[in-house]
Amino acid sequence: MERVVLLDKAGRKWLAPIDGETVSVRGLGVLKAETLRASLGGVLTIGGQSFFVLRASAKDFADTLERRAQIITPKDAALLLFYADVKPGDTVVEGGSGSGALTIALARAVGEKGRVISYDLREDFLTVAQENVRRAGFADRVEFRLGDVREEMDGPADAVVLDILDPWKAVPAAHHALKPSGHFASYSPNMEQVKETVLALRKARFIEVRTVELIEREMEVREQGVRPAFAALGHTGYLTFARKVLLTA
Ligand SMILES: C[S@@+](CC[C@H](N)C(=O)[O-])C[C@H]1O[C@@H](n2cnc3c(N)ncnc32)[C@H](O)[C@@H]1O
Repeated sequence: MERVVLLDKAGRKWLAPIDGETVSVRGLGVLKAETLRASLGGVLTIGGQSFFVLRASAKDFADTLERRAQIITPKDAALLLFYADVKPGDTVVEGGSGSGALTIALARAVGEKGRVISYDLREDFLTVAQENVRRAGFADRVEFRLGDVREEMDGPADAVVLDILDPWKAVPAAHHALKPSGHFASYSPNMEQVKETVLALRKARFIEVRTVELIEREMEVREQGVRPAFAALGHTGYLTFARKVLLTA
């Protein structure tokens, strides 16, 4: 389960498991896990090239993914985990898996005793997501399913997390799958998607319905002055959150 990341001077990263005896790292050859473990936090020279050996972080997992579908950014994933209250032991339903970037963040947050059930309509995306999750070391806590979350979601779930084109169509299934007091979260790039989703959530009588956009601006710190970087991360998406309650009246 334990993973390190090898970081070179150019900022490139390689993910490597260190719980076996040897590890084959694409482009770097076969390395001894013991050597990687002993170099943790320091520098290791491989084939005359220097690498920092770091314990893999949530962002390292995102940086080393094989990307097929557009992935959720670390800033949005981080906010989503907090506002949807994803925590150790939780059962989380995800739709759709895409490249598995969010699946990995969820799997990390639910811990060894938690479970992520991740749906996608497309088998090719499921294959990519599954491989990324396996490489990150979380295969044992993620169940991938070929299916349409607008029609089916397994439960009972502590949270339902959606990154699909028409999340509003999945609101009734999410309501059905969620435990009372469970959290709904949806990521959408366009405001039209947000409006439809919020209206559907209100109709299903979810509470604490709110949408936010998180702006991330990196700073460049130089001797001559400190200012925001020119190449800013522009618009990514809006995050809509809500909670299910049981209403009798
Ligand atoms: C933008 S990608 C998700 C990316 C993912 N959040 C990540 O960080 O890697 C959207 C995915 O949702 C899947 N999808 C779209 N509608 C769906 C539905 N109704 N049920 C299940 N999956 C769906 C698509 O096939 C696609 O793989």
